[in-house]
Amino acid sequence: MPISTKVADFIGRSSWIRKMFDEGPRLKKEHGAENVFDFSLGNPNLDPAKGVKNAILAAAADDTPGIHGYMQNAGFPYVRAAVAAKIRQDEGVDLDENHIVMTVGAGGAVNVVLKTILNPEDEVIFPKPFFVEYVFYVDNHGGNGITVPTTEDFSLDLGAIEAAINPRTAAVMINSPNNPTGRVYSENNIRGLAALLERKSKDIGRPIVLISDEPYRGIIYDDVVVPSVLKAYSNSIVVTSFSKDLSLPGERIGYIAMNPEIDNAGLMMEGLILANRILGFVSAPSLMQRAVKNVLRDLVDVSIYKRRRDRLYEALTSFGYECVKPEGAFYLFPKSPIKDDVSFVVALQKKLILTVPGTGFGEPGYFRIAYCVSDQTIEGSLKGFEEAIREVRS
Ligand SMILES: Cc1ncc(COP(=O)(O)O)c(C=O)c1O
Repeated sequence: MPISTKVADFIGRSSWIRKMFDEGPRLKKEHGAENVFDFSLGNPNLDPAKGVKNAILAAAADDTPGIHGYMQNAGFPYVRAAVAAKIRQDEGVDLDENHIVMTVGAGGAVNVVLKTILNPEDEVIFPKPFFVEYVFYVDNHGGNGITVPTTEDFSLDLGAIEAAINPRTAAVMINSPNNPTGRVYSENNIRGLAALLERKSKDIGRPIVLISDEPYRGIIYDDVVVPSVLKAYSNSIVVTSFSKDLSLPGERIGYIAMNPEIDNAGLMMEGLILANRILGFVSAPSLMQRAVKNVLRDLVDVSIYKRRRDRLYEALTSFGYECVKPEGAFYLFPKSPIKDDVSFVVALQKKLILTVPGTGFGEPGYFRIAYCVSDQTIEGSLKGFEEAIREVRS
């Protein structure tokens, strides 16, 4: 077989999300699109704001000679300078364009960082439930993903992280606001993690890198604050994108912000830039770099996501579902009313509601609802959600 056994195996267990998403077209054909309620994929259904579209048009109209050519692998210096200025203002961290690499989305950014820091068999610790691709991303670079539980409300369990750290630990990777739980780690939680990693780095004799994956940083509710990881811990690297904040996931644009205080900062940055090149990204797309530079402060209309979160959260809890109220991102992660989350997701599917079992995120006993969908989808689904829990409980 011309395909590697590992990739063949990965295909088999790759993604519950895709499995559910692929069910969508079949069910829609059979039952009519308006009767199928698809909450399977975190694909924002809001259009980018008008300012973003205009910025793309303006970037496309730029006739500067060479503008579509190769550039520095880290990206245009003036784009990186603008990104750095925003982080300086928002987080009070003293970085400049030499600490930024423009990337092909947050997914590209995570891969660049892991390529740069991992030796074979190094371990990367991340909390459960997790963004499914982390497992594959760590494997891409010869590392081993080590998952640890979170607390009952999905905050970081520092004891569990401490217990998992050993001399092979290269990094801890967190994601806040979180996919799939919607949890935003508190300032206290982040400070505690930073203190733990400082202490354990000394114990094991190597700096543990804290990778903070933040593509949902702008999508937060009710005055919640997303603490600055760069401010809290010197050996930190933020990876992020404009995919969700600006509703641009198909345009593949994001960046890495490296803490200027990180150990061996110069060499680390050289490594990140090289990794961006040799992973075949070469650089982030020129057009999108230039476009986002002018809309760094734009944001989708978060009040729409908040309205959807409130509607679903209130309706589901009134039907008897147990759920931690999300503080950010656009996911709900309720407990499955029966132990077997896969069976419950199948029960929902019979009501033409597509969700993803917690098993797919390393957290059986729950299921994920991506509510980046229309209000009609939410309204139309409520009856099915109510019937499903009633039926499995009777
Ligand atoms: C937690 C998390 N990290 C990374 C990504 C990838 O983002 P991008 O599309 O910018 O590569 C996603 C996308 O859903 C995500 O949810």
